[in-house]
Formats: sequence, C-alpha cells, structure tokens
Amino acid sequence: MSYLVLARKYRPQTFEEVVEQKQVTLTLTNAIKAGRVAHAILFSGPRGTGKTTIARILAKAMNCEKGPTPRPCNVCRSCMEITAGAATDVFEIDGASNNSVDQVRELRENARFMPAHSPYKIYIIDEVHMLSKSAFNALLKTLEEPPPHVMFFFATTEPHKVPVTILSRCQRHDLSYISIDPIVGHLEMICGKEGVKMERFHTTWCYRHWVCSIMIRFSSFQIQSWTVT
Ligand SMILES: Nc1ncnc2c1ncn2[C@@H]1O[C@H](COP(=O)(O)OP(=O)(O)OP(=O)(O)O)[C@@H](O)[C@H]1O
Ligand SMILES: [Mg+2]
Ligand SMILES: [Zn+2]
Repeated sequence: MSYLVLARKYRPQTFEEVVEQKQVTLTLTNAIKAGRVAHAILFSGPRGTGKTTIARILAKAMNCEKGPTPRPCNVCRSCMEITAGAATDVFEIDGASNNSVDQVRELRENARFMPAHSPYKIYIIDEVHMLSKSAFNALLKTLEEPPPHVMFFFATTEPHKVPVTILSRCQRHDLSYISIDPIVGHLEMICGKEGVKMERFHTTWCYRHWVCSIMIRFSSFQIQSWTVT
C-alpha cells in the first residue's frame, strides 16, 4: 500500500480527528456555532501539518446539509463530494500552476454565479503565495466585496510572501509543527487499524530526520517499519 493511500485513508474528516492544532479547530468551531465564519481565511504553516485537511473540513462544515455545523455529517451529498475531492461547489486550486491574472479573473467571473446545490461556493487556493502580483490585485477586489455566497480558504507555507493587502483582508490561522507524542499516538492508532506492528524506535528515528511533516513521516514510517504481523 502506498503512503499516499494511507495518508488519504486517514486524512481527518472532522475537527476532532485533527491531531493537535486545537487553537485553530476550536476557534473555527466557535465561529461556526456563532455564525461568524470569515469569508476569507488563510491557513499558514509547515508542510503536512493539516492546512488542506482543515480547509476541507471547514468547507464541509459550511456546506453540509445539516450545516453550517462544526460536526459535518460526512454522509450527505455535499460532504461525500468533498471527501472524494469532486465537489461541485468547492474548488481546489493550486496557486502555483494557476497564478496568472487571467486565471484569477476567470475565477472572479465564476464566483458571481450562485452555487449549484450548496449554501456556499468555496475556493480553496493552495500555495497562494505563488500568485503573481497582478493576480493578487485582481483577487483583492473580490476580497474587498465578496458576494455573500463565496468563501476563500487560502493555504500557504510562506505567508511572508503574501501581500499585506491580502493578509489584512483575511482571518489568519497559523498551524504549528505537531509534537512527537500525538504523532506517535496517531500512528499507533493507524497501525492498530491496519493490523501492523509499530516499532517505536523507528518513529523516533523518522521524527529526528523529518521533523517537518507527518505526511512525510507517514512515508518514511511506511518504508522503514511497516512489518505485517
Ligand atoms: N494535524 C493532522 N492530524 C492528522 N493527520 C494529519 C494532520 N496534518 C496532516 N495530516 C495527514 O497528512 C496528510 C497531509 O495533510 P495536509 O494535506 O492537510 O497538509 P498540508 O498542511 O496541507 O501540507 P502541504 O503544505 O504539503 O500542502 C493528510 O492526508 C493527513 O493524513
Ligand atoms: Mg496542502
Ligand atoms: Zn453533510
């Protein structure tokens, strides 16, 4: 089994399942309950710490048939589409390869139309710092006066490259590195479910060598220590 399959299989689908990052998930949970979720949110933090995962859960929370709710049902059409990465009203855009002003203008045009079957049209833009200067300027107009049915969730590993004009219009959540104990606990849970034995020594070894991401830890862990019992 490839690590990607595992990472996807065990990608948290609710805020409770997210390892650490409690400050972020709690703030979002409270905002959802209070009906005060910002229309533009920026998730920043090291690779593999949960930026895309949390953005997707938030998209579910907003568009769930039972929502907006901090506990999306994960069984309605909207939730299932988001889990499958094929949601009609949730657009995942890679900022690195869609960074031109024309692409942002096109996005702006599309954003004007109402969502197909959900309350919100949600744009998740990954690596948003890769947008060109003119693309950021084009985006700024929409961020200043977003249509009420539109939300933007941005993710970046390099927030210092995002223009201040954009940052000032976003609510920002900084994700931190995940510490060793929760990671080990998480991996032990996965091992238990997969019916494989985990050598603690190996995880520590992985941790020392790849401090930056549990996604990467997943793969090293896979290569080094998945021994089927
Ligand atoms: N906080 C977390 N709790 C549990 N699993 C996590 C967490 N963060 C990451 N993962 C696991 O790692 C995988 C990658 O996470 P994700 O795509 O959310 O990271 P990211 O911060 O967006 O990274 P990148 O900067 O590379 O885009 C997920 O599928 C999930 O299995
Ligand atoms: Mg990501
Ligand atoms: Zn749902």
